[in-house]
Amino acid sequence: MIQIHTYDSYEDLSKHAAQLVSDQIRMKPDSVLGLATGSSPVGLYKELIRMHQEEDLDFANVTSFNLDEYLGLNPEHAQSYRTFMNQNLFDHINIEIVRTHVPSGIAEDIAAMALSYEKAIHNAGGIDLQILGIGSDGHIAFNEPGSALDSRTRVVDLEEQTIRDNARFFESIDDVPRQAITMGVGTILEAREIILVANGEGKSAAVSDAVQGDVSTQCTASALQNHSKITFILDKAAAARLNI
Ligand code: F6R
Repeated sequence: MIQIHTYDSYEDLSKHAAQLVSDQIRMKPDSVLGLATGSSPVGLYKELIRMHQEEDLDFANVTSFNLDEYLGLNPEHAQSYRTFMNQNLFDHINIEIVRTHVPSGIAEDIAAMALSYEKAIHNAGGIDLQILGIGSDGHIAFNEPGSALDSRTRVVDLEEQTIRDNARFFESIDDVPRQAITMGVGTILEAREIILVANGEGKSAAVSDAVQGDVSTQCTASALQNHSKITFILDKAAAARLNI
Protein backbone atom coordinates (compact mmCIF):
# COMPACT_ATOMS: atom_id res chain seq x y z
CA MET A 1 0.00 0.00 0.00
CA ILE A 2 1.40 3.36 -0.99
CA GLN A 3 1.00 5.87 1.86
CA ILE A 4 0.02 9.32 0.62
CA HIS A 5 0.96 12.55 2.41
CA THR A 6 -0.36 15.72 0.77
CA TYR A 7 0.79 19.27 1.53
CA ASP A 8 -0.37 22.74 0.51
CA SER A 9 2.95 23.86 -0.90
CA TYR A 10 6.23 22.62 -2.31
CA GLU A 11 7.97 24.13 0.69
CA ASP A 12 5.83 22.14 3.12
CA LEU A 13 6.28 18.85 1.26
CA SER A 14 10.04 19.43 1.11
CA LYS A 15 10.18 20.09 4.85
CA HIS A 16 8.22 16.94 5.59
CA ALA A 17 10.43 14.82 3.33
CA ALA A 18 13.57 16.30 4.91
CA GLN A 19 12.18 15.47 8.36
CA LEU A 20 11.86 11.80 7.36
CA VAL A 21 15.43 11.79 6.05
CA SER A 22 16.79 13.46 9.17
CA ASP A 23 14.85 11.04 11.42
CA GLN A 24 16.54 8.21 9.54
CA ILE A 25 20.02 9.73 9.95
CA ARG A 26 19.51 10.49 13.65
CA MET A 27 18.24 6.94 14.24
CA LYS A 28 21.14 5.40 12.27
CA PRO A 29 24.06 7.82 11.78
CA ASP A 30 25.73 5.49 9.25
CA SER A 31 22.60 5.27 7.10
CA VAL A 32 22.84 4.42 3.42
CA LEU A 33 20.73 6.89 1.44
CA GLY A 34 19.56 6.52 -2.15
CA LEU A 35 19.43 9.96 -3.78
CA ALA A 36 17.67 11.44 -6.79
CA THR A 37 18.44 14.46 -8.96
CA GLY A 38 16.04 16.67 -10.92
CA SER A 39 13.99 19.56 -9.61
CA SER A 40 11.68 17.66 -7.24
CA PRO A 41 14.16 16.97 -4.38
CA VAL A 42 15.89 20.39 -4.51
CA GLY A 43 13.68 21.81 -1.72
CA LEU A 44 14.29 18.71 0.39
CA TYR A 45 18.06 19.07 -0.09
CA LYS A 46 17.86 22.78 0.85
CA GLU A 47 16.08 21.84 4.05
CA LEU A 48 18.68 19.13 4.85
CA ILE A 49 21.42 21.75 4.38
CA ARG A 50 19.58 24.07 6.79
CA MET A 51 19.23 21.23 9.30
CA HIS A 52 22.97 20.54 9.01
CA GLN A 53 23.86 24.20 9.51
CA GLU A 54 21.34 25.06 12.21
CA GLU A 55 20.47 21.79 13.92
CA ASP A 56 23.73 19.82 13.72
CA LEU A 57 22.35 17.15 11.41
CA ASP A 58 25.48 15.06 10.96
CA PHE A 59 26.30 13.38 7.63
CA ALA A 60 29.84 12.32 8.64
CA ASN A 61 29.00 8.62 8.55
CA VAL A 62 26.34 8.64 5.85
CA THR A 63 26.86 6.79 2.56
CA SER A 64 24.90 7.69 -0.57
CA PHE A 65 24.11 6.14 -3.92
CA ASN A 66 22.52 8.18 -6.67
CA LEU A 67 19.99 6.67 -9.01
CA ASP A 68 21.40 7.63 -12.36
CA GLU A 69 23.75 9.56 -14.62
CA TYR A 70 23.69 10.67 -18.24
CA LEU A 71 25.74 8.47 -20.52
CA GLY A 72 28.76 10.27 -21.96
CA LEU A 73 28.84 13.16 -19.49
CA ASN A 74 32.01 13.70 -17.50
CA PRO A 75 31.47 14.04 -13.75
CA GLU A 76 32.78 17.62 -14.13
CA HIS A 77 30.26 18.50 -16.85
CA ALA A 78 27.93 21.32 -15.73
CA GLN A 79 24.83 19.18 -16.34
CA SER A 80 26.13 15.89 -14.96
CA TYR A 81 24.25 14.47 -12.02
CA ARG A 82 27.52 14.38 -10.05
CA THR A 83 27.80 18.16 -10.48
CA PHE A 84 24.12 18.54 -9.57
CA MET A 85 24.60 16.60 -6.33
CA ASN A 86 27.77 18.50 -5.39
CA GLN A 87 26.06 21.85 -5.98
CA ASN A 88 22.68 21.06 -4.45
CA LEU A 89 23.78 19.02 -1.44
CA PHE A 90 27.25 17.56 -0.97
CA ASP A 91 29.20 20.86 -1.05
CA HIS A 92 27.07 22.20 1.81
CA ILE A 93 27.06 19.30 4.28
CA ASN A 94 29.73 17.24 6.03
CA ILE A 95 29.32 14.06 3.98
CA GLU A 96 32.61 12.33 3.05
CA ILE A 97 32.80 12.71 -0.71
CA VAL A 98 34.35 9.21 -1.03
CA ARG A 99 31.18 7.80 0.47
CA THR A 100 28.99 9.47 -2.18
CA HIS A 101 28.37 7.36 -5.27
CA VAL A 102 27.00 8.41 -8.65
CA PRO A 103 27.13 5.95 -11.55
CA SER A 104 29.86 6.83 -14.04
CA GLY A 105 28.61 7.99 -17.41
CA ILE A 106 32.02 7.58 -18.96
CA ALA A 107 33.27 4.17 -17.81
CA GLU A 108 35.01 2.24 -20.59
CA ASP A 109 33.14 -0.91 -19.68
CA ILE A 110 29.69 0.31 -18.68
CA ALA A 111 28.32 -3.19 -18.04
CA ALA A 112 31.15 -3.91 -15.58
CA MET A 113 30.60 -0.53 -13.94
CA ALA A 114 26.87 -1.27 -13.55
CA LEU A 115 27.67 -4.59 -11.91
CA SER A 116 30.18 -3.02 -9.53
CA TYR A 117 27.62 -0.31 -8.65
CA GLU A 118 25.16 -3.02 -7.62
CA LYS A 119 27.93 -4.76 -5.63
CA ALA A 120 28.87 -1.52 -3.88
CA ILE A 121 25.25 -1.03 -2.76
CA HIS A 122 25.18 -4.60 -1.50
CA ASN A 123 28.53 -4.26 0.29
CA ALA A 124 27.35 -1.08 1.99
CA GLY A 125 24.52 -3.13 3.50
CA GLY A 126 21.79 -2.05 1.07
CA ILE A 127 19.88 1.22 0.91
CA ASP A 128 18.07 2.22 4.12
CA LEU A 129 16.08 5.10 2.65
CA GLN A 130 15.62 5.80 -1.05
CA ILE A 131 14.46 9.22 -2.27
CA LEU A 132 12.68 9.25 -5.64
CA GLY A 133 11.06 11.70 -8.02
CA ILE A 134 8.69 10.61 -10.78
CA GLY A 135 8.81 11.41 -14.49
CA SER A 136 5.73 12.72 -16.30
CA ASP A 137 5.69 9.34 -18.10
CA GLY A 138 5.70 7.50 -14.76
CA HIS A 139 9.40 6.62 -14.72
CA ILE A 140 11.41 6.17 -11.53
CA ALA A 141 15.13 6.78 -11.92
CA PHE A 142 15.44 6.44 -15.72
CA ASN A 143 13.33 3.30 -15.93
CA GLU A 144 11.21 4.37 -18.87
CA PRO A 145 7.93 2.68 -19.85
CA GLY A 146 8.67 -0.89 -20.90
CA SER A 147 11.47 -1.41 -18.36
CA ALA A 148 11.27 -4.76 -16.61
CA LEU A 149 10.06 -4.49 -13.03
CA ASP A 150 13.00 -6.65 -11.91
CA SER A 151 15.58 -4.68 -13.94
CA ARG A 152 19.01 -3.88 -12.49
CA THR A 153 21.55 -1.09 -13.07
CA ARG A 154 22.10 -0.72 -16.82
CA VAL A 155 22.20 1.60 -19.84
CA VAL A 156 18.83 2.81 -21.12
CA ASP A 157 17.52 4.96 -23.98
CA LEU A 158 15.61 8.03 -22.82
CA GLU A 159 12.10 8.68 -24.14
CA GLU A 160 11.44 11.81 -26.22
CA GLN A 161 9.17 13.04 -23.42
CA THR A 162 11.99 12.75 -20.86
CA ILE A 163 14.44 14.48 -23.20
CA ARG A 164 11.92 17.33 -23.65
CA ASP A 165 11.25 17.51 -19.89
CA ASN A 166 14.96 17.68 -19.09
CA ALA A 167 15.90 20.11 -21.87
CA ARG A 168 15.26 22.98 -19.41
CA PHE A 169 18.54 22.12 -17.69
CA PHE A 170 20.55 22.34 -20.95
CA GLU A 171 21.25 25.17 -23.41
CA SER A 172 19.37 23.37 -26.16
CA ILE A 173 17.40 20.15 -26.49
CA ASP A 174 20.14 18.83 -28.80
CA ASP A 175 22.55 18.89 -25.86
CA VAL A 176 20.44 16.47 -23.78
CA PRO A 177 22.07 13.02 -23.82
CA ARG A 178 19.87 10.32 -25.38
CA GLN A 179 21.00 7.59 -23.02
CA ALA A 180 21.62 7.20 -19.31
CA ILE A 181 22.85 4.66 -16.82
CA THR A 182 20.25 3.95 -14.16
CA MET A 183 19.54 1.74 -11.20
CA GLY A 184 16.85 -0.74 -12.19
CA VAL A 185 13.34 -1.03 -10.77
CA GLY A 186 14.47 -4.22 -9.02
CA THR A 187 17.45 -2.38 -7.49
CA ILE A 188 15.18 0.38 -6.19
CA LEU A 189 12.61 -2.02 -4.72
CA GLU A 190 15.32 -3.53 -2.49
CA ALA A 191 15.60 -0.30 -0.47
CA ARG A 192 14.20 -0.82 3.02
CA GLU A 193 12.13 2.37 2.85
CA ILE A 194 11.24 4.64 -0.07
CA ILE A 195 9.88 8.18 -0.27
CA LEU A 196 8.79 9.71 -3.55
CA VAL A 197 8.39 13.48 -3.85
CA ALA A 198 6.30 15.08 -6.60
CA ASN A 199 4.81 18.50 -7.12
CA GLY A 200 2.84 20.29 -9.80
CA GLU A 201 -0.03 19.46 -12.10
CA GLY A 202 2.33 17.94 -14.67
CA LYS A 203 2.91 14.99 -12.33
CA SER A 204 -0.73 14.32 -11.43
CA ALA A 205 -1.42 11.77 -14.17
CA ALA A 206 1.80 9.84 -13.46
CA VAL A 207 1.07 9.87 -9.71
CA SER A 208 -2.46 8.61 -10.29
CA ASP A 209 -1.26 5.83 -12.63
CA ALA A 210 1.39 4.81 -10.09
CA VAL A 211 -0.98 4.70 -7.13
CA GLN A 212 -4.31 3.69 -8.67
CA GLY A 213 -3.37 1.96 -11.90
CA ASP A 214 -2.40 -1.64 -12.45
CA VAL A 215 1.17 -2.62 -11.69
CA SER A 216 2.63 -2.41 -15.17
CA THR A 217 5.87 -1.78 -17.02
CA GLN A 218 4.04 1.08 -18.74
CA CYS A 219 4.35 3.10 -15.51
CA THR A 220 7.39 1.81 -13.69
CA ALA A 221 6.47 3.78 -10.55
CA SER A 222 3.45 1.44 -10.20
CA ALA A 223 5.91 -1.27 -9.10
CA LEU A 224 6.19 0.68 -5.84
CA GLN A 225 2.73 -0.68 -4.94
CA ASN A 226 4.53 -3.92 -4.09
CA HIS A 227 6.89 -2.28 -1.58
CA SER A 228 6.18 -2.62 2.13
CA LYS A 229 7.31 0.87 3.21
CA ILE A 230 6.60 3.47 0.55
CA THR A 231 5.31 7.02 1.02
CA PHE A 232 4.41 9.53 -1.70
CA ILE A 233 4.90 13.11 -0.48
CA LEU A 234 2.89 15.38 -2.76
CA ASP A 235 1.58 18.88 -3.16
CA LYS A 236 -2.11 19.33 -3.89
CA ALA A 237 -1.58 19.72 -7.63
CA ALA A 238 0.34 16.44 -7.94
CA ALA A 239 -2.33 14.69 -5.83
CA ALA A 240 -5.25 16.20 -7.76
CA ARG A 241 -6.23 13.01 -9.62
CA LEU A 242 -6.10 10.69 -6.61
CA ASN A 243 -9.41 9.39 -5.24
CA ILE A 244 -8.69 10.32 -1.64
C1 F6R B 1 16.55 11.76 -11.29
C2 F6R B 1 15.62 10.73 -11.67
C3 F6R B 1 14.34 11.02 -12.39
C4 F6R B 1 13.58 12.23 -11.87
C5 F6R B 1 12.33 12.47 -12.69
C6 F6R B 1 11.61 13.74 -12.25
O1 F6R B 1 17.65 11.21 -10.62
O2 F6R B 1 15.90 9.61 -11.42
O3 F6R B 1 13.50 9.89 -12.31
O4 F6R B 1 13.25 12.03 -10.52
O5 F6R B 1 12.66 12.58 -14.04
O6 F6R B 1 12.40 14.84 -12.53
P1 F6R B 1 12.04 16.28 -11.97
O7 F6R B 1 12.13 16.19 -10.48
O8 F6R B 1 13.07 17.22 -12.53
O9 F6R B 1 10.66 16.58 -12.42
